[in-house]
Amino acid sequence: MLYKTDAEIVLMKEAALLVSKTLTEVAKILKPGITTMDIDKLCATFVKDHKAIPSFLNYRGYPYTICASVNEVVVHGFPNKKNLKEGDVVSIDMGVILNGWHGDHAYTFILGEVSNEILQLVRVTKESLYKGIEQAIINNRIGDISYAIQEHTEKKYGYGVVRELVGHGLGRSLHEDPQVPNYGKRGNGPKLKENLVLAIEPMINLGTRDVVTESDGWTVRTKDGKPSVHFEHDVCVKRDKALILSDYSIIETAEKANTNLNSKYY
Ligand code: MF3
Ligand code: CO
Repeated sequence: MLYKTDAEIVLMKEAALLVSKTLTEVAKILKPGITTMDIDKLCATFVKDHKAIPSFLNYRGYPYTICASVNEVVVHGFPNKKNLKEGDVVSIDMGVILNGWHGDHAYTFILGEVSNEILQLVRVTKESLYKGIEQAIINNRIGDISYAIQEHTEKKYGYGVVRELVGHGLGRSLHEDPQVPNYGKRGNGPKLKENLVLAIEPMINLGTRDVVTESDGWTVRTKDGKPSVHFEHDVCVKRDKALILSDYSIIETAEKANTNLNSKYY
């Protein structure tokens, strides 16, 4: 496993923060009527204007800057030209390379009114991310993170925890060791040491955990067609408390200020 120096962590924070800033721009303009292709263009321009490279574009042939996963799409949705509508649950996931270092994180937005069931799914998925992050401290193991996420979502609320996709190490590459599953046992897996950087990313389904991948080779949907939510933070392992490199506070401020977005779950 690759451990970063403190100087490298500073650079990685800049990369993660650029993704947060891009998602903040998305939070400002999201509303019914715009398309995920519009969002892809906005993100591509913003990243280039900040002297960074979109990291998903051409990664194993992925054809866009962002992943835009709406409603029953779990992750890796292609941006398209359909108008977003009231009630849509929209996950935007994006990665950049800045000064050679990767940032990769995601946020789920709600357009207008949705059921309490969906509000709860969004709230609990975000909570589970922070429960996982609490475990990202030295001498814990990856399984402690996995267990915390699974407990809060599957055990407590009966949600489906996707097994086929996992979080990951992050650094000069988008995907480094170790894998970070959103399910597992306490005390299992690799031990965490200081300055290991992890992308922790719960993918949580309202219904069953089963997913199917579309014939485009990327789009992952829930098998039962029920909605799914995805949040992702970039996190640096520390002694007493993990350092979160990405920043939801700027996204959340924009989200709350945008009357087209539903932030009633706070
Ligand atoms: N956050 C996702 C991941 O880490 C997004 C990758 S999309 C891809 O796997 F296009 F880059 F593959
Ligand atoms: Co990721």
